[in-house]
Amino acid sequence: MNPIVYIKNANQIVSVSGASASPKTGKEMEDLGLIEHGGIVIERDRIVFVGSDEEAQAYVDTLAQEPFIIDASGKLVTPGLIDAHTHLVFAGSREKELEMRLQGASYIEILEAGGGILYSTTQTRQASEEQLFEESKKRLDRFLQYGVTTLEAKSGYGLTTADELKQLRVARKLNESHEIDIVSTFMGAHAIPLEYKSDPEEYVRIVIEEMLPAVAEENLAVFCDVFCEQGVFTIEQSERILEAGKKLGLIPKIHADEIVTLGGAELAAKVGAISADHLLKASDEGIARMAEAGVIAVLLPGTAFFLMEEPAEARKMIEAGVPVALSTDRNPGSCPTESLPLIMNFACLNMKMTPAEVLAASTINAAHAIGRAAEIGSIEVGKKADLVLFDAPNYLFIQYNFGVNLVDTVIKNGRVVAGGTHLRPTGLAFAKEIGNL
Ligand code: NIG
Ligand code: FE
Repeated sequence: MNPIVYIKNANQIVSVSGASASPKTGKEMEDLGLIEHGGIVIERDRIVFVGSDEEAQAYVDTLAQEPFIIDASGKLVTPGLIDAHTHLVFAGSREKELEMRLQGASYIEILEAGGGILYSTTQTRQASEEQLFEESKKRLDRFLQYGVTTLEAKSGYGLTTADELKQLRVARKLNESHEIDIVSTFMGAHAIPLEYKSDPEEYVRIVIEEMLPAVAEENLAVFCDVFCEQGVFTIEQSERILEAGKKLGLIPKIHADEIVTLGGAELAAKVGAISADHLLKASDEGIARMAEAGVIAVLLPGTAFFLMEEPAEARKMIEAGVPVALSTDRNPGSCPTESLPLIMNFACLNMKMTPAEVLAASTINAAHAIGRAAEIGSIEVGKKADLVLFDAPNYLFIQYNFGVNLVDTVIKNGRVVAGGTHLRPTGLAFAKEIGNL
């Protein structure tokens, strides 16, 4: 018999329904498909019913078996959070750079001096697959505690064919063994490694002719990303790399217009990227092109915060009709946090996104940014039962009581995978039971 779980008496359910075919834009981002006092029924790994308390109870009454009950009284239920932009797999850390930046060094100056991404590259090259797995798993465990049930993970700290493949293989192993689903992105074009400093074109050639075919051959990534930035990869180099990836079936993403206005947003529209990310300095023209082409803006306000920069102009983008998603950008240098809820707080308070827009951006629009919206990102019949119960009465509260972890229970594929502390002893027993199915 298939196990059935009934999440009962939720104070508020944020279903974010009706946008599985295309991401939410403009005013649609405010429509969360709210259900006050509702219930959700799960069979195996899927949502089979969502509605008001009365409707959910009536549905359960028709079932031939007793469901396990999770009492969500007083709680907010949302879709599992989705982090559409992380650099999950790397070795070591860079806390010393925080001090250097506080003394006035810029992010790019540190990179040009061989620090930054290049420092993490040295650490990652020296690490074994096992070490990378263990260090990254620790971060994944933390993501789960913060309600993230699916995330995108980029390579880009190997910068040799063998080391890029090593990172992507670790991501694949983590995907196979961890509760969180991982979608991989190849980002060999993350920095010019020191050994090619005097001949960047040769490195671009290696990315295109050696790395990309090897990644495609082993089917190690869905997306191809480029750090298109002054002093890193030019617009022209980025375009060539992304077009080469497309020929091998890899969908383009771009780190665009983060530090200077280079035209990354325009390039994203031109190459048909699924998303352009960062966009702190995106031009009005670039924003307009993204809206026309339906490129998703993946905004990373935690990075702006940590680099002490002005965040992206989210309001302008939403008003221009660009679909907006939010992500941590978890990486060792410019945003070392696994707390997507904190990033959501920044989006609200620093970019003036409304609490409703923030939720659409970190659920269904983030799902679209990684090509998974048919399966995840909303609470709808037929979708995966990836859910978060927050110790909050409504969705405004998680923006208001900021900077603390309000995640109470995380359900992934219909199983309780984190938290569940509110469940009574009998409840805990069955939470463990369904966790073991
Ligand atoms: O998205 N901007 C480029 N890459 C990363 C940072 C990587 C690092 O500093 O290690 C980012 O912020
Ligand atoms: Fe990034």
